[in-house]
Amino acid sequence: MAKKAKDPSQKGLLRAHSPHDNFRAPFDDDWRGSDSDSDSDLDATDFLDKNAASESAFLEGLGPRRQWSILRPLAGRSRCCIVLLLTIAGIWILLAAGGAFIYKKYQDEPVYGQSPPWYPTPRGGIASTWATSYEKAAKMVSRMTLAEKVNVTTGTGWQMGYAVGTNAPAIHVGFPQLQLQDGPLGIRFADNITAFPAGITVGATWNRQLMYARGKAHAIEAHDKGINVLLGPCVGPLGRMPAGGRNWEGFGADPYLQGIAGAETVKGIQSEGVMATIKHFVANEQEHFRQPWEWGLPHAISANIDDRVLHELYAWPFGDAVKAGVASVMCSYNQVNNSYACGNSKLLNGILKDELGFQGFVMSDWLAQRSGVATALAGLDMTMPGDGLKWAKGDSLWGPQLTKAVLNGSVPLERLNDMVTRIVASWYQLGQDDETKFPREPPNFSSWTNDRFSVASYGSPSPQEKIEVNKFIDVQANHSIIAREVAAEGTVLLKNDNVLPLSREGLPEAKLMARRDNIYRAIGKRHAGKFKVGVFGEDAGPGEGPNKCKDRGCNQGTLGSGWGSGAVEFPYLVTPIEALRDQFDGSKVDLHEYLSNKPPVGGAERGILEDLELCIVFVNADSGEGFTKWDDVSGDRPNLDIQKGGDALVQRVASKCGSGTGDVVVVIHAVGPVLVEKWIELPNVKAVLFAHLPGQESGNALADILFGDINPSGHLPFTIGKSLKDYGPGASVLYTPNGVVPQQDFSEGLFIDYRYFDQFGKTPRFEFGFGLSYTTFEYSGLQVAPRKTKSELPAPRPNPAAQPPTYSSDIPPASEALFPADFRPLKKYVYPYLNSTDGIVPGQYPYPDGYDTVQPLSGAGGEEGGNPDLWEVYVSVTVEVLNNGAYDGAVVPQLYLSLPNARQWISRPVRALRGFHKVYLRKGQTKTVTFDLTRRDLSYWEAERQNWVMITEDEFKFSVGESSRDLRVFGTW
Ligand code: BGC
Ligand code: BGC
Repeated sequence: MAKKAKDPSQKGLLRAHSPHDNFRAPFDDDWRGSDSDSDSDLDATDFLDKNAASESAFLEGLGPRRQWSILRPLAGRSRCCIVLLLTIAGIWILLAAGGAFIYKKYQDEPVYGQSPPWYPTPRGGIASTWATSYEKAAKMVSRMTLAEKVNVTTGTGWQMGYAVGTNAPAIHVGFPQLQLQDGPLGIRFADNITAFPAGITVGATWNRQLMYARGKAHAIEAHDKGINVLLGPCVGPLGRMPAGGRNWEGFGADPYLQGIAGAETVKGIQSEGVMATIKHFVANEQEHFRQPWEWGLPHAISANIDDRVLHELYAWPFGDAVKAGVASVMCSYNQVNNSYACGNSKLLNGILKDELGFQGFVMSDWLAQRSGVATALAGLDMTMPGDGLKWAKGDSLWGPQLTKAVLNGSVPLERLNDMVTRIVASWYQLGQDDETKFPREPPNFSSWTNDRFSVASYGSPSPQEKIEVNKFIDVQANHSIIAREVAAEGTVLLKNDNVLPLSREGLPEAKLMARRDNIYRAIGKRHAGKFKVGVFGEDAGPGEGPNKCKDRGCNQGTLGSGWGSGAVEFPYLVTPIEALRDQFDGSKVDLHEYLSNKPPVGGAERGILEDLELCIVFVNADSGEGFTKWDDVSGDRPNLDIQKGGDALVQRVASKCGSGTGDVVVVIHAVGPVLVEKWIELPNVKAVLFAHLPGQESGNALADILFGDINPSGHLPFTIGKSLKDYGPGASVLYTPNGVVPQQDFSEGLFIDYRYFDQFGKTPRFEFGFGLSYTTFEYSGLQVAPRKTKSELPAPRPNPAAQPPTYSSDIPPASEALFPADFRPLKKYVYPYLNSTDGIVPGQYPYPDGYDTVQPLSGAGGEEGGNPDLWEVYVSVTVEVLNNGAYDGAVVPQLYLSLPNARQWISRPVRALRGFHKVYLRKGQTKTVTFDLTRRDLSYWEAERQNWVMITEDEFKFSVGESSRDLRVFGTW
């Protein structure tokens, strides 16, 4: 599976591949065998402990591991159990996607861990920006017991607290339990909150202030509900595959756009003292096979990416988030280069903590931790929700196992101290120690029930007292205003043949008469009376209400969000039809509603349809997280088609509306690109609006645009192609497994979305960055102002601004880890404690291969966000933009960079986004727009030198315009 890279800079992650890289095999074998209920199952830390007496048994695990280990744990069961389980397992595997395939191909399992080793974890506390928080944290952590430290790192188990994730407190030093809640578009599983527009809609606004404002409002709601850590924003998936199920949670198929939007959102969230979590690190580009067992396979997919592409595309936006001070990074479910992302030392220790200088903590996605000791060594700091390899079992890979591992020396105490310090420092960094701002109380809502009274640990079968868990506190404030602004500005006008904006009165008398004369001449029929408007499509209406399906896991009624953990309970959803009913002037306009995708066209309806003068058709496409399937959409979409017969609806309306003379406006609500080829060129399809996922203010925001109260200024955050094929071979979701560990080679390299279209001369239907306005803009006077001298490499890595705290290296007494006397544990709840310290044998346990190899510190590192020189502005480009049209409105000048011509062997996109602004201009007004390009913006990543490199020969080329193809002014440096 290793890629053959012609470009020498394309090697990278696979570079250091050696037979030793499968260092995690022994740990790994354990979890691979553990999806049975057998008590004899070992998990990673167990393995070390249970075999402590016999190192040779441990080392056996290092042998070639090409056996299929699913059945291994069955040894030792009674025969009847074995037969029964085998039958069930057999049927299940055969039914599951690719079951037969596994059977045939299990022997082709790739070697685990083809990502190079990077040890040990860089300790937090080197950045100037965090120094004070680390000092405070060190004082607190030094007073914690072992059990308290473990508490801080380990979730208490699925549904054990009120939020989707809770760790446990360190009570005697005053560190509270942290409350972690989804997700990127609002407070999941909560009442009286705002259902904001989704990330993709935010990306489509290209409006930095709104990105920030939405983050801030989101955090206010989180804070007021009692949440410490928000599980968002999401910048991964990046959008390699346009049908990827969760692309809509992020901001668009370009790393620069994702980076800015992610960073602004992080800053907005954290301005309220709430910790943001940037997720999912990294390359969780599709839902199929994202995690073991969810797809009938024992392993998650491996995204195989080379070093340069990782840096320039997939990890790029995470860099922005770290630079913005993000407190937490969530590692993803999938494997990267055949090593689980949450146990991948190169990613977590090397790239995130050394190179990007990340000072916060790495938390696992929910059950993305697949081994115990190995993940600790690889740089994971917090496991969520705390359960081990299976949901809701309370059988943690950390918790008591981490306690043991520290006591027997297999996880260095220093590593545990660093995990805890990172978490506590983040809490100080956000000011959450201030009790006047963050009262030490549990959330005032429960994620698991709508009842006012219930138990605190809903997931535990142990009897518990009922308490008030839901206080139904309204935290929405005036956030509907921001929600509406984002939805309106995130609406993209794709086509407009003089029909928009509409008037609430239909058409002015004179125009109406002239038009009716034309119709009469064309079809011999004279329309009369009020202006007649038809509204078509299920997507215009309420359906069975926005919350009909759990986690929004179905497409019915108007589409306001995708589904999964990134969705919320809508407090309300203003449907398009409500807004239109409200806003059309009933004394001048007749509104006919057909809130179905199969409206009647015969009989009495025929006459009405023939008279319609304007028809607004609503269509959509939905997707979501892989744990839910709707229709043929298993998380990822099966194709880019408009769903539920929407194409046929548009075609039918176009032919029937005023017998084909009526103007048709199409409104699309979608999670990502959809194909519009079947109707886009029909002569009476006069206007198309792409409204993405607008959230609760859907109808109001749409009306703002339709009636011209807000001039459209949204731009596509992805390319709309003419076919899925046009996006290139890498853009197809892998729907059937190609091995027992599905392998997904990112061999298209840098060429995703518009970069692919540009490189291979494909003509998109609507290119990345495209979006019309009711007015027009003129660009002129591009000027280039160098700010610093070009040089190939950034300044040398600075010395650390601060020193990480140090603690006593004495392993704490085992007594600190025993269950306190008279303690009555709840079933399934994850505690840090041990029943006994028997069998804990301290010793020298083998660490992964490469553990003792000292890694050179990255030249790209040195501070939070990496080497500060990478963030220095090297050149500024200014342009003048004039609104020369008939309406006031906002423009989005976009700057695209083409690398200098020299070094043609370095693969490069034709052009890449490196700047954008949203600027409001009154009619006739001109403004100067400045784009500041940093060293990172101007560089490519070179695997050989492991650094960002600027090409100093030849000139950079800048193109500025309104989309990736509508480029108006040019300059060079
Ligand atoms: C999702 C995360 C989410 C977590 C908690 C996971 O399945 O991938 O995005 O934050 O669940 O609900
Ligand atoms: C939970 C989600 C979680 C998902 C992960 C679901 O059952 O409701 O919170 O993100 O599983 O697969």
